[in-house]
Amino acid sequence: MTFSVLIFTYLYLRSPSLSNLMQISCVCRYPLGMSGGQIEDKDISASSQWSESTAARYGRLDFEDGDGAWCPDMSVEPESTKEFLQIDLRSLHFITLVGTQGRHAGGFGKEFAQMYQIKYSRNGRRWVSWRNRHGRQVIEGNKNAYDTVLKDLEPPIIARFVRFMPITDHSMNVCMRVELYGCEWLDGLVSYSAPIGQLMVHRGQHIYLNDSVYDGEVGYSSGMTEGLGQLTDGVCGLDDFTHSHVYNVWPGYDYVGWTNESFPGNYVEILFEFDRIRNFTTMKVHCNNMFPKKVKTFRQATCFFRSSSDWEPTPVTFSPVMDDVNPSARFVTVALNNRMASSIKCQYFFADAWMMFSEITFQSAKYLLRFSPGDDPTHKVDDSNTRILIGCLVAIIFILVAIIVIILWRQVWQKMLEKASRRMLDDELTASLSIQSETFTYNNNNQSSAGSEQESNSTYERIFPLGPDYQEPSRLIRKLPEFSLSMEEAGTSGVSKPVQAGPQEGVPHYAEADIVNLQGVTGSNTYSVPAITMDLLSGKDLAVEEFPRKQLTFKEKLGEGQFGEVHLCEAEGMQEFMDKDFSFDVSNNQPVLVAVKMLREDANKNARTDFLKEIKIMSRLKDPNIVRLLGVCVCSDPLCMITEYMENGDLNQFLSRHEPEGQIALACNAPTVSYSNLHHMATQIASGMKYLSSLNFVHRDLATRNCLVGKDYTIKIADFGMSRNLYSGDYYRIQGRAVLPIRWMAWESILLGKFTTASDVWAFGVTLWETFTLCKEQPYSQLSDEQVIENTGEFFRDQQRQIYLPQPACCPDPIYKLMLSCWQRNTNERPSFQEIHQTLLGCLV
Ligand SMILES: *[C@@H]1O[C@H](CO)[C@@H](O)[C@H](O)[C@H]1NC(C)=O
Ligand SMILES: *[C@@H]1O[C@H](CO)[C@@H](O)[C@H](O)[C@H]1NC(C)=O
Ligand SMILES: *[C@@H]1O[C@H](CO)[C@@H](O)[C@H](O)[C@H]1NC(C)=O
Repeated sequence: MTFSVLIFTYLYLRSPSLSNLMQISCVCRYPLGMSGGQIEDKDISASSQWSESTAARYGRLDFEDGDGAWCPDMSVEPESTKEFLQIDLRSLHFITLVGTQGRHAGGFGKEFAQMYQIKYSRNGRRWVSWRNRHGRQVIEGNKNAYDTVLKDLEPPIIARFVRFMPITDHSMNVCMRVELYGCEWLDGLVSYSAPIGQLMVHRGQHIYLNDSVYDGEVGYSSGMTEGLGQLTDGVCGLDDFTHSHVYNVWPGYDYVGWTNESFPGNYVEILFEFDRIRNFTTMKVHCNNMFPKKVKTFRQATCFFRSSSDWEPTPVTFSPVMDDVNPSARFVTVALNNRMASSIKCQYFFADAWMMFSEITFQSAKYLLRFSPGDDPTHKVDDSNTRILIGCLVAIIFILVAIIVIILWRQVWQKMLEKASRRMLDDELTASLSIQSETFTYNNNNQSSAGSEQESNSTYERIFPLGPDYQEPSRLIRKLPEFSLSMEEAGTSGVSKPVQAGPQEGVPHYAEADIVNLQGVTGSNTYSVPAITMDLLSGKDLAVEEFPRKQLTFKEKLGEGQFGEVHLCEAEGMQEFMDKDFSFDVSNNQPVLVAVKMLREDANKNARTDFLKEIKIMSRLKDPNIVRLLGVCVCSDPLCMITEYMENGDLNQFLSRHEPEGQIALACNAPTVSYSNLHHMATQIASGMKYLSSLNFVHRDLATRNCLVGKDYTIKIADFGMSRNLYSGDYYRIQGRAVLPIRWMAWESILLGKFTTASDVWAFGVTLWETFTLCKEQPYSQLSDEQVIENTGEFFRDQQRQIYLPQPACCPDPIYKLMLSCWQRNTNERPSFQEIHQTLLGCLV
């Protein structure tokens, strides 16, 4: 278990290597400067303009200057999509989102583009039409002159120049205001050239391993040249290459793959061209390793370097350790030994009949630091580091809010806003999400500047913000009248007034942590730890002992994450190993079952440090209702932590197998559970949470799936959920990437990214509800994920339109009342775990 959201966040930001593992191109979404002004007028041009007052420079989202937008001169060129608005970003950017608006002009304008296309270019010469993953070029634009419509670019674009090309049917004029969202492309990779990916026929199934989004030239003899595509689109393939993250595509979509039959030299050669000469530290190749299907990572990579006209004679050769045990896809890291080059040519040797890659990223050392004479270089480093850190934190917080707001925006409030008068938009509401400095005070000083030397460490880390002043989320929020009210006032009046919304109570924001947790770095996770507590807890030496590894016998895999796995094992001699005061949940002479969380041997240093920290934190948690850390194996690799496991598995599965006492159970001879058993279990969960909250731990994912059941209905709170496929339906994927247990989350966690003990209380209410429905249905099972999020908006607005979970059949009134109190809108009106525990003890009928 990870108790260390913040540490993870922190390490993740500090140690780029961790971030590799996260698919967070959804984090790279900053406005690139049309509305903020960073893009200068001279860099905005157009094919034509209708008048001087509708020139290209007026095409800035949310600006009302000139006549309020860019409008082309459509009378000249009747052909559609000949007109364009062009933006020069001055350097390569990774662009993930675009926003468009029509001409509003204070209510006088009514022109907008219902549809448009996008073209882009990296060098200003070769232009490519953007297509989505299904090959469609046309993007749906605006429906009125004032709303901003945001569209995800899937796949994202890597470009310096972007053109918006409105499509019209000539029944109306079009005008556009636009914004691009993304971040700088720090890998510096301009193109790769590779042989065409091939077709695999496996048991009659056709698996297309072509590069589905390659934007360069494709010729049958020349292969793919001059483009970028799947290997840089920020999406890592799944373990099973026949499946994909992407909806409704052909098998093999995520990978580019080749068979050894077509390569007599037994290797595939890929040429990488960069924007300038760089000092390369590493290359990371995300490979499939499904060896039962004859797919393996490469056996050897030999890379040649070129910084002028000739290839240097000495290559760098690297042979990874082959893994015949674990069929998971993984990043293989090749050290490039600080070679300087502007082109790299690598030969990847087959280890089996097939080789499949889904991402390749390059990391290069930063150019010599630029500091003026007299500056203290170390200061400079720290400074930039802090800025990056702060930037990232701000960004992640904003992004989560933004994503959610966008969802809400699209689905709930769009209609409402259309009706709402434009007056609202004109009101200068000055609400902005102020991010308070507490959020950034978790820097732990002895973790120095690992992140600063490297310019970019992965695809997902292109994610450096352009500055701390991006304002998109608040701008969106500004348009929603509710958000302009402070939390207490919202919903009580329909009149907007300028008040600051956002984190004001000094409660730290943990939104950023989501993204860190989501991939379950070492298998599972999620208690978040305020830094203070963390220091308190980890100040002392490790309070847990080394357990002899050979006494562990593997039984079953419980889950897995990017860096490790969780196994169910039998531990021989565990009873003797533990203190006398610790009693196991087994009869004597029975083997003790334990959950063993293992760090993969190839995990990097930061993952290891992290893992050790986690051990430290966990070793301090001692409560009868919290799963205990029993022992560790840290003397040799792989690092393991051994925690309790209980014979009845998790509470969700346990309750699903049972029926309430009564007629039905008798009739079908099912195992039963009585009301008092349920009550007893709920009380224990409350007790465990009381303990966690007394230490200021925030669990963040309390649910029945994360509680273990032992003998006599004993309960211990654990956390395995995220990594188990069994429960994937309980988590909601945002943009296909971030996953959140939205049905258990408090409204403020979803909307504002706030995770506190009070939001744990909310989740406790849902857990209580699950318990009393015997987990026979998912919370809000009749609502789709989107509707759950809409409902969250209703909780926020508090106009009595929110839907509460219903009272379960066998749930007495006082217990249901307790649930409802957990779902109070205002966090300070929710009971504390102390109170909940008392109430539960008191209402035993
Ligand atoms: C890749 O293969 C699929 C399936 O045959 C095909 O639809 C798609 O057009 C191909 N893409 C490219 C870029 O060749
Ligand atoms: C490349 O970067 C490394 C580490 O930053 C540095 O030690 C080395 O001198 C650099 N190489 C060149 C040729 O600049
Ligand atoms: C391709 O790889 C398979 C499995 O390693 C091997 O049996 C076969 O001989 C190889 N084919 C060629 C042409 O090298």
